[in-house]
Amino acid sequence: MSAKDHLIIFDTTLRDGEQSPGASMTRDEKVRIAKALEKLRVDVIEAGFPIASPGDFEAVKAVAEAVKDSRVCGLARALDADIDRAGEALKNANAGRIHTFIATSPIHMEKKLRMSPDQVLEQAVYAVKRARNLTDDVEFSPEDAGRSEIDFLCRILEAVIDAGARTLNIPDTVGYNIPDQFGSLIATLRARIPNADKAIFSVHCHNDLGLAVANSLAAVRNGARQVECTINGLGERAGNAALEEIVMTVRTRQDLFDCDTRLDTTQIMNCSRLVSGITGFAVQPNKAVVGANAFAHESGIHQDGVLKHRETYEIMRAQDVGWSENRMVLGKHSGRNAFRARLQELGVVLGSEEELNAAFARFKDLADKKHEIFDEDLQALVTDATLET
Ligand code: KIV
Ligand code: ZN
Repeated sequence: MSAKDHLIIFDTTLRDGEQSPGASMTRDEKVRIAKALEKLRVDVIEAGFPIASPGDFEAVKAVAEAVKDSRVCGLARALDADIDRAGEALKNANAGRIHTFIATSPIHMEKKLRMSPDQVLEQAVYAVKRARNLTDDVEFSPEDAGRSEIDFLCRILEAVIDAGARTLNIPDTVGYNIPDQFGSLIATLRARIPNADKAIFSVHCHNDLGLAVANSLAAVRNGARQVECTINGLGERAGNAALEEIVMTVRTRQDLFDCDTRLDTTQIMNCSRLVSGITGFAVQPNKAVVGANAFAHESGIHQDGVLKHRETYEIMRAQDVGWSENRMVLGKHSGRNAFRARLQELGVVLGSEEELNAAFARFKDLADKKHEIFDEDLQALVTDATLET
């Protein structure tokens, strides 16, 4: 059996995640999250955008000094001051990376940068060379690649590889692509760029149409070997690709992927709770992997199935992503087996089948009036049922 490729996980919670309105973090909060990401064994932590503010410079510097086992990255536009500032912030890192970018789509070049494609290419090459004077590890992103012309993308990417970029990150900046299209984009770039094998292809997808994870995974199936993502999918507008969904899809569907990550997935919940607590962004209950209901079962049919064999309705183990266990929620769809199992867990022994039936009938009445039945409700129900018989 051939060994799987390493899929590099580049976490940008502290940079793109922080660009989510209302999610800004202090230096110390960033260090706490970075330490949790290091424990999760994330390969690269993008700690911030050092030129953005003195505070962000200090935060990137502090993360670079605190983290030893993950690579620490700082973002820089393709400008001298940005690149130098990023180099300065990262100078004490055990392993540092400068990530420089410039937009390549017609709309961004014409309306935002007011530059011609040739000027953009020249500046990209210049920026990569300047960054290479500060570190061996330079990543380049053609911003808005998802709406850029393929011939120009091939030209600029070939040139930045020659200039020394070792990671080529392809952003779908505005979340415009759909999976088969984005997967083909990666396949085409890898096939058409003559020196493509000198660089790792990375992807960075936004979630404007809810497709960030699907697009990232399509890219991985077409040869991308780095994914940029965030905890809980935090990020600009509708967010970035969610780290936990990417990592658990690749891990759960190893039959479909010729690569895997090196993450300790049992640390996922710890990171999710920490990011949510620090930013104040609650995780929706039905969010994949980290939502409160991700491993909860309410319907009688499902509860009965899971009690008989967990894999009837679960494709991952709750413990593998850091939950203590899966959860049987008692509500109006629940059945007698789950009801009886929960009573047993609570140490309640009902003497006869009649007592169980009476308690179960009361439970169903109450469940019609309440969203969820808690342990205290059950205790009360059982006491009432016992008194009645
Ligand atoms: O979405 C984007 O294009 C970015 C780049 C800076 C990589 O965040
Ligand atoms: Zn982004």
